[in-house]
Amino acid sequence: MSSIPLQSRLPNVGTTIFTVMSALAAEKKAVNLGQGFPDFDCDPQLVDAVSQAMRQGHNQYPPMPGLPVLREAIAAKMAALYGHAYNPGTEITITAGATQAILTVILAVVHPGDEVLVLEPCYDSYVPNIDLAGGKPVRVPLTPGTFRPDFEKIAAAITPRTRTIIVNSPHNPSGTVWTAAELRQLEQLLAPTNILLISDEVYEHMVFDGQKHQSAAMFPGLAERAFVVSSFGKTYHVTGWKVGYVAAPAALMQEFRKVHQFNVFTVNTPVQHGLAAYMAHQDAYLALPDFYQQKRDLFRAGLKNSKFRLLPCEGTYFQCVDTSAVNDLGEADFCKWLTSERGVAAIPLSAFYGDGFDQRVVRFCFAKKTETLQLALEKLQRL
Ligand SMILES: Cc1ncc(COP(=O)(O)O)c(C=O)c1O
Repeated sequence: MSSIPLQSRLPNVGTTIFTVMSALAAEKKAVNLGQGFPDFDCDPQLVDAVSQAMRQGHNQYPPMPGLPVLREAIAAKMAALYGHAYNPGTEITITAGATQAILTVILAVVHPGDEVLVLEPCYDSYVPNIDLAGGKPVRVPLTPGTFRPDFEKIAAAITPRTRTIIVNSPHNPSGTVWTAAELRQLEQLLAPTNILLISDEVYEHMVFDGQKHQSAAMFPGLAERAFVVSSFGKTYHVTGWKVGYVAAPAALMQEFRKVHQFNVFTVNTPVQHGLAAYMAHQDAYLALPDFYQQKRDLFRAGLKNSKFRLLPCEGTYFQCVDTSAVNDLGEADFCKWLTSERGVAAIPLSAFYGDGFDQRVVRFCFAKKTETLQLALEKLQRL
């Protein structure tokens, strides 16, 4: 116990629902489809590449923005996939996961009193990040039911104090993927402004049904103002490694790096070497849509005749369902009940809204082995 008084920088932050649900899932030995991480291993070749880097003595500090060889591999991949040539020397930085990347962008560009638009429901780190920078989060709802962007609402939320907007596609938690037309609409809306864009694209390789991921890098009017963020954790099934990256025009990246170098300074060396070598296997990410689409289809087929109403899932590894035909519980109570009494953990969508908006929708993560999904489905089909 400490008797030293301390005023919290984040007085509204408590234990997140993800921690609560994971603890409950462990206690009740429930199948954990709550927190978003794979329960299967990554490619052993990737582990070998990292081990080899350690054995070869790549164990000291790398350059502050990351290993050149890894930045070059990222630049080549982004040029091939999105047609935008980022300069690996000045426009790409390796980060300790997307979470650190986003916090660092916000600390670099948001001044006290600046407004930051977040589209709710949204990933839980965005708002506390804005609070830490002294910014003002301005919450704009995605359209309830479809989770598509509502450009009238976004336009109405813009003021002279708006510094940046955070967009996440493919979208956690809803599984919505922004279309090219929607990104063009965003491009037009931002064109007359100096508003920056934080484009959280960590699920860029999980887009289904032949659709293509639309990166902000593909739209010149967005690319010139965008910090494009991605995560190796999602792409290579290594969420625990916490390595990601940011791509942005040189002038923006220069400011990013000022904060980055006094935040983490740099990211661990052998993992960067391993990733750089492994990125030569393009199949690893090109095959990802099919890999996850099969899991999505298995999970959806299993729930087709259940009481859950399936919402569309265009991307990510999350499937949202409406629970109102199962029972009358609100989302958070439903998830606790489902975990404790029926042995499957899920996450309430209300956790992704500042005001706890409850639309009787919960999120399952299907980044799981077939046996895990089948075990969960047996339990869910009985409801
Ligand atoms: C939308 C979104 N952004 C960022 C992250 C964080 O990624 P990382 O694990 O690389 O920090 C996640 C992880 O769940 C996410 O869902």
